[in-house]
Amino acid sequence: MNEERLQKVIAAAGVASRRHAEEMITQGRVTVNDHVVRVLGVKVTPEDKVSVDGVPLTREKKQYFLFYKPRGVITAVSDDKGRKVVTDFFEEVQERLYPVGRLDYDTSGALIMTNDGDFANMMMHPKFNIDKQYVAKVKGVPQGVELMPLRQGITIEGRKLAKAKAKVLSRDRTKQTAIVELTIHQGLNHQVKKMLKAVGYPVLKLSRVAFGPLTLDGLQPGDYRKLSHHEVHALKGEAGN
Ligand code: URA
Repeated sequence: MNEERLQKVIAAAGVASRRHAEEMITQGRVTVNDHVVRVLGVKVTPEDKVSVDGVPLTREKKQYFLFYKPRGVITAVSDDKGRKVVTDFFEEVQERLYPVGRLDYDTSGALIMTNDGDFANMMMHPKFNIDKQYVAKVKGVPQGVELMPLRQGITIEGRKLAKAKAKVLSRDRTKQTAIVELTIHQGLNHQVKKMLKAVGYPVLKLSRVAFGPLTLDGLQPGDYRKLSHHEVHALKGEAGN
């Protein structure tokens, strides 16, 4: 349960690289629950007390949040031009969080924030197929059939994209706009905007309404909530399929 290799835990606490941590272990500088451990391969849980040179490690608890990113916020941990960034919303959280993937400055919606690097890499890795659902307001009034190329896998900038689910949710003939729902599992830069532009319907407004099984239910822009163990587990399971 939540076991990790000793050298990984030491490295994650920022004390040394994993390689250097291994040396520290074999040199007898590391204790687990006040007993010196000199062999590699020992695993510890968050309950174990790990010390290096007699100094206990302060271990960051893994944190996972679902954030409703508002429009007009940069998906980054800092901005040299002083614009608002997603981490500004998490000032009361002690752990150093970062976003899993990115949403454009003018896109709102579901964004996971975590301090678990392995989890973040897993969620973003192209070989994992986590569905991301978007709702876009587009210029023009498409017929369902006009979105067919997106369902079949459109080629953009010389790259054939995976098949997407695409449907028109509503049409406003007076304003000449429509609302389109698109579900994709890749995460290329500006992918949804490029896809809809490629079929002739540029995006006016974009929101990510679901990330895998997570929806924005109960959240307002700028709100966040902790993910339950069950949800973290479900996301890992979905990534594995
Ligand atoms: N696709 C886009 O075009 N923008 C986003 O922010 C996310 C997906």
